[in-house]
Amino acid sequence: MPSFNGRAALALASFGTFGSTVLSAPSGDWKGHGGWKGHDDPFSNASWPLPRRVYGENDTANVDSATEGWGGIHLHDPSIILGPDGHYYSFSTHGLTVISRASKKGSIDGYWEIIGSVLDAGSSVINNSGSADPWAPDVHKVGDTYYDYYSVSQFGSQISAIGLATSKTLMPGSWTDHGEVFSSDPNATYPLNVTNAIDANLFIDPKTKTPYINYGSFWSNIYQFELTEDLKDIKQDTAVQLSLDPVAPQPEEGAYMNYHDGWYYLWYSHGTCCGYNSSALPAPGEEYSIRVGRSRSPRGPFMDREGVKLTEGGGYIVYGSHDFVYGPGGQGVLSDYHGRDVLYYHYVNTIVDPTYADNLKLLGWNYIYYIQGWPVLSYH
Ligand SMILES: *[C@@H]1O[C@H](CO)[C@@H](O)[C@H](O)[C@H]1NC(C)=O
Ligand SMILES: *[C@@H]1O[C@H](CO)[C@@H](O)[C@H](O)[C@H]1NC(C)=O
Ligand SMILES: *[C@@H]1O[C@H](CO)[C@@H](O)[C@H](O)[C@H]1NC(C)=O
Ligand SMILES: *[C@@H]1O[C@H](CO)[C@@H](O)[C@H](O)[C@H]1NC(C)=O
Ligand SMILES: *[C@@H]1O[C@H](CO)[C@@H](O)[C@H](O)[C@H]1NC(C)=O
Ligand SMILES: *[C@@H]1O[C@H](CO)[C@@H](O)[C@H](O)[C@H]1NC(C)=O
Repeated sequence: MPSFNGRAALALASFGTFGSTVLSAPSGDWKGHGGWKGHDDPFSNASWPLPRRVYGENDTANVDSATEGWGGIHLHDPSIILGPDGHYYSFSTHGLTVISRASKKGSIDGYWEIIGSVLDAGSSVINNSGSADPWAPDVHKVGDTYYDYYSVSQFGSQISAIGLATSKTLMPGSWTDHGEVFSSDPNATYPLNVTNAIDANLFIDPKTKTPYINYGSFWSNIYQFELTEDLKDIKQDTAVQLSLDPVAPQPEEGAYMNYHDGWYYLWYSHGTCCGYNSSALPAPGEEYSIRVGRSRSPRGPFMDREGVKLTEGGGYIVYGSHDFVYGPGGQGVLSDYHGRDVLYYHYVNTIVDPTYADNLKLLGWNYIYYIQGWPVLSYH
């Protein structure tokens, strides 16, 4: 038997075929599976697995456009959810929150078909005129309704808002835009005067059923509010800071929270997200990477593996650039994917995208193992 880690599988097959390579089934025991087989330290970056490959529409006709050419395999800040018909649906930044659907029931491998968008026209949130290009959708089912929290902003601006659209079916045409949930600007009420209201993540505490919204990007990094029961407004005076990189430019964003076995995990993206130029890349380590901390409470404090608080610059790097993967981020967790947790994200695949163009970023994913309560990614 060859060694079954993602890289070995890749070495055996060309990029074009590794997705169909027959691999051994996971046993549930972390040893011997995924990227870290052959390494003593599952937490080492030498153990990072390759992304699982997804199949789907590959619309490269509009690669020069910020808003077209997205969906299918090309996602940014993806959100994935199981639909009422047993198919998985994905949502992406751009394309008025482009919706794709995996044609194979119960699978996130694909074939991802673009089926439309959440919004028919721009968002009703008109702040700062980013409304025609909502970012970073975060879709969850609560009761019988799907909630999509999206962001309205412009690159480099703190005048931002988080909007909400809801649907009973996830299908294009079924969404109602409720407009703004909350917004940030220099004149807003603290902490909305010092934070950036984008990159929303709804988290409902499985223990207390309390709804929270995690958000933030750069300016003061990641914050959290409690939401009102209808999930359409924040409760003032409930803000807590979850994470802060004190080193300028404080590049943290894209928070995502999940719960597993007594721990709350706060995942986020650190570094420069986009606009990479293959001949002038950010200094190594300054591009996007995926980091995580954990806490016994959804309100924090979150700590990294060294015991450093996330609010004091902590953060365990769980996935970053390696092999043909560059700048992974915009992540989310899919719980109970056939009984397992999955981390999905976007990344630059430097083989298919040697120019590192934003519009060719791919959806990737890996299984999550929790080793001593710390997430480790795995190919299997
Ligand atoms: C992996 O970790 C080692 C040791 O901490 C570090 O020197 C190296 O730069 C890291 N490599 C990547 C690709 O992050
Ligand atoms: C953004 O729009 C909302 C109404 O949708 C308004 O309450 C808020 O003050 C606006 N913020 C800015 C900075 O214009
Ligand atoms: C903030 O207040 C100042 C002074 O009133 C005003 O000039 C500025 O336009 C306001 N900014 C926003 C984003 O509302
Ligand atoms: C934000 O608001 C708080 C409370 O009103 C105020 O003390 C603080 O100076 C403001 N910060 C900025 C950067 O405007
Ligand atoms: C990429 O960087 C190179 C070298 O700095 C520069 O000449 C080129 O214009 C840049 N390309 C873009 C699209 O910004
Ligand atoms: C998508 O299509 C482009 C243009 O045909 C091609 O260069 C690229 O390799 C394709 N991407 C994938 C992942 O197949």
